[in-house]
Amino acid sequence: MTLLEFLRTRTPFKSVKLGCGEGGCGACIVLLSKYDPVIDHVEDLTVSSCLTLLCSVNGCAITTTEGLGNSKDGFHSIHQRFAGFHSSQCGFCTPGMCISLFGALVNAEKTDRPKPSPGFSKLTVVEAEKAIAGNLCRCTGYRSIADACKSFAADVDLEDLGLNCFWKKGENPDVKVSRLPSYDHNNEICTFPEFLKCEVKSSFLLDSQKSSWYNPVSVKELQSLLKAIKGNNGARIKLVAGNTGMGYYKDLQQYDKYINLCHVPELSIIGKDRTGIEIGATVTISKAIKALKTETNGEILSESEMVFKKIAFQMEKIASQFVRNTGSVGGNLMMAQRKCFPSDIATILLAAGSFVNIITDTMHEKLSVEDFLERPPLDSEIILTSVKIPKWEPIKNECSEKDCKILFETYRAAPRPLGNALPYLNAAFLAEVCRWKSSGEIALNKCVLAFGAYGTKHSIRARKVEEFLTGKKLTLDVLYESIKLVGASVVPEDGTTNSAYRSSLAVGFLFDFLGPLIDNVAKISNHWLDNHGSATISTVDEVKQNYEQPDHAKVPTLLSLSKHVFEVTKEYQPVGEPVKKSGAALQASGEAIFVDDIPSPMNCLYGAFIYSTKPFAKVKSIKFKSKSLPYGVSALISFKDIPKDGENIGSKSIFGPEPLFADEMTRYAGERLALVVADTQKHADVASNLVVVDYDMENLEPPILTVEEAVKRSSFFEVPPFFYPKQVGDVSKGMAEADHKILSAKMKLGSQYYFYMENQSALALPDEDKLLGGLQVGGGFGGKALKSIPVATACALAAHTLQRPVRMYLNRKTDMIMAGGRHPMEITYSVGFKYSGKITALQLDILINAGISPDISPAMPHNMVGALKKYNWGALSFDIKVCKTNHSSKSAMRGPGETQASLIAEAVIEHVASTLSMDVDSVRSINLHTHDSLKMFYVSSGEALEYSLTSMWDKIAMSSSLNQRTEVVKEFNRNNVWQKRGISRVPVVHEVIVRPTPGKVGILSDGSVIVEVGGIELGQGLWTKVKQMAAFALSAIKCDGGVELLDKIRVIQSDTLSLIQGGFTTGSTTSESSCEAVRLSCKTLVERLTPLKERLQEQMGSVTWEMLISQAYLEALNLSASSFFVPDLNSMQYLNYGAAVSEVEVNLLTGETTFLRSDIIYDCGKSLNPAVDLGQIEGAFVQGIGFLMLEDYTTNSDGLVVADSTWSYKIPTIDTIPKQINVEIHNSGHHKNRVLSSKACGEPPLLLAASVYFAAQAAIKEAREQMFSWGCRDQPGFNFQVPAIMPIVKELCGLDCVERYLKWKIGSETSSELY
Ligand SMILES: Cc1cc2nc3c(=O)[nH]c(=O)nc-3n(C[C@H](O)[C@H](O)[C@H](O)COP(=O)(O)OP(=O)(O)OC[C@H]3O[C@@H](n4cnc5c(N)ncnc54)[C@H](O)[C@@H]3O)c2cc1C
Ligand code: FES
Ligand code: FES
Repeated sequence: MTLLEFLRTRTPFKSVKLGCGEGGCGACIVLLSKYDPVIDHVEDLTVSSCLTLLCSVNGCAITTTEGLGNSKDGFHSIHQRFAGFHSSQCGFCTPGMCISLFGALVNAEKTDRPKPSPGFSKLTVVEAEKAIAGNLCRCTGYRSIADACKSFAADVDLEDLGLNCFWKKGENPDVKVSRLPSYDHNNEICTFPEFLKCEVKSSFLLDSQKSSWYNPVSVKELQSLLKAIKGNNGARIKLVAGNTGMGYYKDLQQYDKYINLCHVPELSIIGKDRTGIEIGATVTISKAIKALKTETNGEILSESEMVFKKIAFQMEKIASQFVRNTGSVGGNLMMAQRKCFPSDIATILLAAGSFVNIITDTMHEKLSVEDFLERPPLDSEIILTSVKIPKWEPIKNECSEKDCKILFETYRAAPRPLGNALPYLNAAFLAEVCRWKSSGEIALNKCVLAFGAYGTKHSIRARKVEEFLTGKKLTLDVLYESIKLVGASVVPEDGTTNSAYRSSLAVGFLFDFLGPLIDNVAKISNHWLDNHGSATISTVDEVKQNYEQPDHAKVPTLLSLSKHVFEVTKEYQPVGEPVKKSGAALQASGEAIFVDDIPSPMNCLYGAFIYSTKPFAKVKSIKFKSKSLPYGVSALISFKDIPKDGENIGSKSIFGPEPLFADEMTRYAGERLALVVADTQKHADVASNLVVVDYDMENLEPPILTVEEAVKRSSFFEVPPFFYPKQVGDVSKGMAEADHKILSAKMKLGSQYYFYMENQSALALPDEDKLLGGLQVGGGFGGKALKSIPVATACALAAHTLQRPVRMYLNRKTDMIMAGGRHPMEITYSVGFKYSGKITALQLDILINAGISPDISPAMPHNMVGALKKYNWGALSFDIKVCKTNHSSKSAMRGPGETQASLIAEAVIEHVASTLSMDVDSVRSINLHTHDSLKMFYVSSGEALEYSLTSMWDKIAMSSSLNQRTEVVKEFNRNNVWQKRGISRVPVVHEVIVRPTPGKVGILSDGSVIVEVGGIELGQGLWTKVKQMAAFALSAIKCDGGVELLDKIRVIQSDTLSLIQGGFTTGSTTSESSCEAVRLSCKTLVERLTPLKERLQEQMGSVTWEMLISQAYLEALNLSASSFFVPDLNSMQYLNYGAAVSEVEVNLLTGETTFLRSDIIYDCGKSLNPAVDLGQIEGAFVQGIGFLMLEDYTTNSDGLVVADSTWSYKIPTIDTIPKQINVEIHNSGHHKNRVLSSKACGEPPLLLAASVYFAAQAAIKEAREQMFSWGCRDQPGFNFQVPAIMPIVKELCGLDCVERYLKWKIGSETSSELY
């Protein structure tokens, strides 16, 4: 049993959340404290409880966020600051974030750093940011979380922190500090209670027999234990160190015996001597890093210490802090040896000439890492005891003619720079180089070139390249030959994804290593020269300096200062104020309750789906592998269990139903076939993997897996005519007016997974006519609108069939496979335009892949055209087909259709600019709407004054210094060969619809107010805005005594029976319409109460709220009011505007993109709550970056999702968001048809992330133009591929750019230098 399972099922502590179960999200983090009675020392480390085995924490203390504080005893300052910095939206990630920060604080306080000033800790800003580097958050965009963390740092400049509810802009630093919830570093929480120390001292041990858990305390004991177990009928044994390997291998099988290696002293040594450093196999990666960083001989940094430090810095990019804290060096190497794990450690140790010590039955063996890796997988009884990294002595310069040195460098190309992502390829190079003083020539005496993780069984040495280079003087020709050889040596095995890209990385890294050693190349490879190249020619001191700050240029500091500009509207107070999110502190303290936190009712059963892996097949049978039911299983529920008078419907939209389960036929890979029901969630999950489905595909038509095939077979969903948007103007005329045309250009867009942190979950009780759900929802982003319903329906069917409560929490893999996600599509466009860049006509054919069921897909054309019309195309015509295919049905995902359409519009603009060789920003400006053209394109254009886009367009240019920075970018690009930058400004026009919404307000006898609305709080701040609105609307009674109405208001979750016509919480407008419904209800109450208030006032002079309400109760006034807000037909649709400028840097050697800065301006009208809106803007923007740059939601050829885990699907993390995000909330003043003049902001800002994408495109274009100048024949023109993940970017920059460069360089060597 894992610690997570124990905490969640056997204790009342529900703050530890299950987000992934594989160490990849941080939702389950706890602080683990170990006490060493010998030295009376407590060690505190954050660990992922989903991977930690319960028995391994015997004698340890665990602190969860509940342990820091709570609503009863008082919140901890971490909770208060998270709430006050608006760092929690849905709140599912928040407990894990709080513990990550707490762990960092506890450990910083143990250092001997100077005493911090009051209110602060010994933590530094960099540490505060890095504390949450492994935690995922899908809502906030991280900036606000980073601010809450940084507020504890001793070196923080409070000016750098963004919007919070502690201080106002301009207040002096002392006042600011005094307003922060207090933190006393001397008086922190005790992480290891005294009583437990006593237990530890008395060696409280687990009963091994009972728990099948063994703690040998010597190698001898370990060996005899292994021997005894081996003789015991082949019992299944597992050697365990940190158990983090389970995160990768998802080892669900139960073992008979677990042997914990962590108490064997020989395995946990760290020893340094003259020959090197020895690290025991169970030493955690964190401890190894610390040991490798510790200097031994003070003054002069020897070569070996440089090597150690480089190894340490590379190890810091492995996984995340909370995995490194328990994951061991030995465990990693054994995974690499036995199971071909793409290890970073194996590669670096290989290059550093390390050895491993292993023991078999009787033998001790010392093997080189290379021999160790090359052996066939070692038997399960073989134990790795330690690794030895040799000391590299400085080379004695026997000859005064030359200087010789050891160089060591490590490389890694991964989707996330700070780790928490496996690399596409890693490398480590060690070389002995000599430089002749007279000529400056450099030769390689010897070198070791190790590569790994690129789709090979294990890390390898590129022997041929090593042999080629050894003894050679480094020249351009030698370099060229060597990289050609590397390209041919580092070749992934068949079937590896991005194979050519991985090989090109090897080339890039070797070039990066050797290039600076060749003078004339060094001059242009300036980035590397700063760090490492200079080591060959500089003094010892300089070398020392370089190595002491080895990777600071490469390991980016995270976020720099962010600016927020907004106006607080006083008119409707407290509406308009940046009030903190309702319940945020409860989310931080883990007291907020999500569906899976509800204690299980008696007799509760648990479900797990079985899904199809075939896109179109007869399902002949669904059976368990064994004849008997697997342990704990009660039933297998399928369509056959649907009651006779029932229908096979899982969910239903206005466009049609989706079946709950496949019947005799399965129609897409990922379709629900059945539900395994068992006594625990774990048993259900394990059993679902033991099911065998027998398919029959004989005599069936092939499935429709592409939109082209759908067209061929006329497989479409009908779009109701009233939903189909209208064309604008006359496209043939527009085309005739054009000077230029681009005809039938094509582009493709892929899907995106919601990645809400809380997976789909439900709990159904038999014979209850409502399903439990919707307490707190851990994010939705559209994925819980329709897609949650079949989960609840399946539970309900099982509960009905078995007459027992049934609950289900989908595991991440199943959730990812079934979710559907954003609509992929293929687009063909023709566009006509003038020489000036003015577009005269745009014609589009769009094929939307909707999957198998209609869901909301027939609404897609409407959504798309609403956003497509953002520019004045002159005339616009389109043919949009909603294709029915054998894929999971696609559903609404934040900005469904608008996101894709806005991107298509920008791609057209880019293409036009590229064709005309014009500056793309001016093509955008030329084609922006005037209010007149806006009216032609939109019925919802509003009045001229409401059209704020043009003014925001100019404003963002000013505030982001667009023109100046464009020049700086040009200069940068002229001076840098291997890094290119781009900057891009993008506008957004996004149409939304306000829908009818119910609301209900009741006043209790104590004066407290209960509000119910149709919308669901998903983290978007709906309840907070609704509370503000109720407080504002009820304040119209004007009672005396300054009653703080806001504090008296509680929003409770309505259900479909208590509040009908609640509708869907989608389309960004639920908050405002819910607010309006509440305002109407409050108005009724105010009308009822006003005569009474006036009467009382006359009688008593003054009336407080409480007096009024108690009198109203006495007089039997109806203090409950319901309303149903129906927006006016003419104004229910309206337009939202925004603009963004982003700057991006692209690394041509790796394809890595770094988002340097984004400036956003967005029109919220008169914002109902600027803090909530700011959170929505930043969160949406970062989610958009995910879609465009990082998240590859891939399927196999059958359409089955294969990006089905945190290992393969990478949402943005704190190190992959813009380093600076400045947001201005534009207040466009009075809007007579809007709810208190406010405008929506949940989805439109996501579209602004296109600025990041096109800034990257601009940088890529620069790279391609440069390559063109090297004589490459490919045209630098326009390219479009989403998401622009590293392999794509690198491909666009030229997989062979290094080879081309060198070839060109060699060719032009005789001529004067060009760079
Ligand atoms: C989210 C996540 C991200 C990761 N990212 C990276 C990464 O980027 N780069 C990278 O290199 N690694 C990465 N890892 C792998 C990580 O380094 C390993 O999981 C960890 O080091 C394994 O150590 P452990 O102590 O937990 O091993 P365990 O899980 O306890 O053991 C792993 C295997 O080795 C066996 N074993 C352990 N110790 C010994 C021993 N002394 N002798 C014989 N057999 C033994 C066990 O029986 C088991 O089969 C990641 C892991 C996770 C969970
Ligand atoms: S649930 Fe443990 S790290 Fe995600
Ligand atoms: S607040 Fe972080 S995932 Fe929702």
